[in-house]
Amino acid sequence: MHGRTVVITGGTSGIGLAGALELARRGARLVLVARDPARAEDALIQLRRISPEARHGIHIADLSRLSEMRRVGAVIAAAEPRVDVLVNNAGAWFPDRIETEDGFEMTFALDHLSYMVLTDALLPSLVAAAPSRIVSTSSEAHRFAALDLADLHGRAGYRGFSAYGRAKLCNILFTRELARRLSGTGVTANAFHPGFVASRFGDAGRGLGRRAFGLAKALFAISPEAGAATLVHLATSPEVEGTTGGYHAKCRPLQPSRAGRDDAVARRLWDMSSEMTGIGSGLPA
Ligand SMILES: NC(=O)c1ccc[n+]([C@@H]2O[C@H](COP(=O)([O-])OP(=O)(O)OC[C@H]3O[C@@H](n4cnc5c(N)ncnc54)[C@H](OP(=O)(O)O)[C@@H]3O)[C@@H](O)[C@H]2O)c1
Repeated sequence: MHGRTVVITGGTSGIGLAGALELARRGARLVLVARDPARAEDALIQLRRISPEARHGIHIADLSRLSEMRRVGAVIAAAEPRVDVLVNNAGAWFPDRIETEDGFEMTFALDHLSYMVLTDALLPSLVAAAPSRIVSTSSEAHRFAALDLADLHGRAGYRGFSAYGRAKLCNILFTRELARRLSGTGVTANAFHPGFVASRFGDAGRGLGRRAFGLAKALFAISPEAGAATLVHLATSPEVEGTTGGYHAKCRPLQPSRAGRDDAVARRLWDMSSEMTGIGSGLPA
């Protein structure tokens, strides 16, 4: 990865931080998109310890806000004419329905729309660096989800885990449609499930649910480093050179749910998300 630039969201914690550190160990220069300045600074210190010469960078943005997704995308695109790998990884689940300032349901905005807007902004830099890669953190939680295109913002009854599963299903559908549109550009797109990982994920829960989740994490979860293995594999391995549109776990391809293989829905989701965000990637339809 020497001489390669990796842009990563959610690189201040858990899977993203472990992945960023491993990519730095392999020689990459990391550009983090982070929400919390203090955690970003801490991550940067760890990256600089690994490779002080690499000119790692940070951009601060709240990726649940459309204006921030667009702004940080434009700033990075201007600063980085070549991006070898984009890792869309920032994400969370929310026990109660939150509507963002843009009128979007929070999980849908952060876990799906931010992936799409940042990818759109960085496409010219990714194409310039081709062969290049887009890696998006999804989840096996997608298997419990069905997508209601008439209610993408969960207005007709909200359950946190269902909203999360839907957003992670969107990651897989987005990746399929993106790969189709990227055909011939030399840019690949893949999604992955990291495993059940002992990160800060789920800490937003409450009461018994939160305690049960905490216990499950303590008993069964794998380390962030193990959770980042498939991220690092998709970002670096010659084995997946040219592999695109897929869903992976444990560094191997894995068939997503039936809903995750619905190309007509993937296309519709792309169109609807583009309309909501006003992005115009210029990729063929
Ligand atoms: N942990 C699991 O078992 C598991 C399983 C399957 C999939 N995943 C997925 O893995 C990804 C990483 O999660 P994790 O487990 O590593 O959790 P985590 O430790 O909570 O890390 C989440 C990352 O996302 C960032 N983030 C959250 N909200 C943001 C916002 N509004 N704007 C910008 N950045 C924001 C966080 O930044 P701050 O430092 O500012 O909070 C943090 O860096 C997520 O997409 C999650 O859905 C996790």
